[in-house]
This record gives sequence, structure tokens and C-alpha cells, in this order.
Amino acid sequence: MLKINKFDRIVVANWKLNGSIEFIEQYLKELNCSKLENSSICGIICIPSVYLHDLAGKLNPLFLGGQDCSNYNKGAYTGEVSASMLKDSSCQFCIVGHSERRQIFGQSNKDICIKVMNLMAHNINPIICIGETYEEKSNNLTKDILYTQISKSIPENATQDSVIIAYEPIWAIGTGLTPSLEEIENIHFFIKNEIQNFENYKILYGGSVNSNNASEIMGLNNVDGVLVGGASLDALEYKKIMNS
Ligand code: PGA
Repeated sequence: MLKINKFDRIVVANWKLNGSIEFIEQYLKELNCSKLENSSICGIICIPSVYLHDLAGKLNPLFLGGQDCSNYNKGAYTGEVSASMLKDSSCQFCIVGHSERRQIFGQSNKDICIKVMNLMAHNINPIICIGETYEEKSNNLTKDILYTQISKSIPENATQDSVIIAYEPIWAIGTGLTPSLEEIENIHFFIKNEIQNFENYKILYGGSVNSNNASEIMGLNNVDGVLVGGASLDALEYKKIMNS
């Protein structure tokens, strides 16, 4: 598994349910990976699993990632994609517990914990998403929610150099809204320092990140990078964010 501690900054692109062969060809052209320098920035592009083979071996020095993996390793689970299949398809990272998977597909913290274990067993670095709804924020429940999500979805054998946490307030995803810089710093400080047994993980911020706000968000002390949805569908915008 890749040791993520060696990177100063992590910038994840999450294509969600977007992409096509044509889109990928254009994206690769614009990304122009041969011109990207090996650096302390870890760029990860997480795409729908059917296209992993189309990008395998073509992203260096960036990395390829999945968007979810099955709780199961094999068997009668129609429609699922296992961690070993992701590994066979050259994935080095995989998002798990994205709020869309939690809310639309009913995934629980326990499911996410199993997925993280499956990924680690196959040498894939998990990117675990956590975050509160607007209602939970309004009721001052953010820290309680994050505490529960972290303590229940990160297995005991996880380590700071293998697992990444992405803090994505659900109300900020795809809405153009973001918390204030002070709020982001405050929550990241809480996650990094105040949850016993889970201190000092790499923490990314996600939710309406673009090339205009990336630099100030990534400039915050306890922010190790960003997870970008909508804006990452534009390769040039994604490159700008990596270089912010
Ligand atoms: P967004 O999505 O950047 O479009 O807000 C982030 C995410 O859901 O990962």
C-alpha cells in the first residue's frame, strides 16, 4: 500500500456517475500527464469502475481510484465490485462512505468499516468520507456525528500512513456553499486532535471546491488537501486546483 505520509498535499477528483470513452480521451489530452512533474502532491482520479482499465497506466504520476467497493470479496452479489477486482484494475485508492452512498444507497458506518478492511487487505488506500447534514449542523451536532462516523467506520488496524479521511459537509456538496475558513480549520483541528485513537490522520476538505477557493482552503493548517467533485470534471480546472 502506498505510504501517504510522504505527500504534502492530496487532491482527489471524484467524477461520480460521469464519463464516457470520448470524455476520457479528451480528459487525458488536457491533463497531459507526461508533462506533470513527480512532486509532493498526490493527485488521485476516482472514476466509475467500468472505465478503470481505460485509464490504467495512463495517469502517472497521478493515481487511479475507485468510488466504492463491495462489502463482499466474491460470490452471489450481483452488480458488486470487490476490492480484489479494483486492485486488478490498477486502483491504488478508493473512496468509501461518500455521503451519496450513505444517503441514497443506505450504507452504514459498519458497512464502511468492512469496506475499509477489504481495501486494506488488498493494498488499496481507503479515502473515508464523513460529514454532517445541514440540519445536524444547525442543531450543533457536527462534532458528535463526525466522532461516531470516525470511531465506527475506521477499523482498529488502520494507520495514519494508509488511510485518508475526507471531511465533506453534506450541505456543501454540489451546492456552491462552503463553511467559513474558520469553521473548516476548527473541524479539521477537532478531527486531527480530539478523537481518541484516531489522531493525526490526513484530512481532506470536500464540498464545492474549485480553483477560486482551493488555495485558501489548502492553506489552512490542518487541511492536507481537497476532494473535488463537479470541478474535477474539467481537467484544466483540476490541474489548477492541484497547483493552487
Ligand atoms: P462537489 O462534490 O465538489 O461537486 O461539491 C464533492 C464530492 O461530493 O465529492
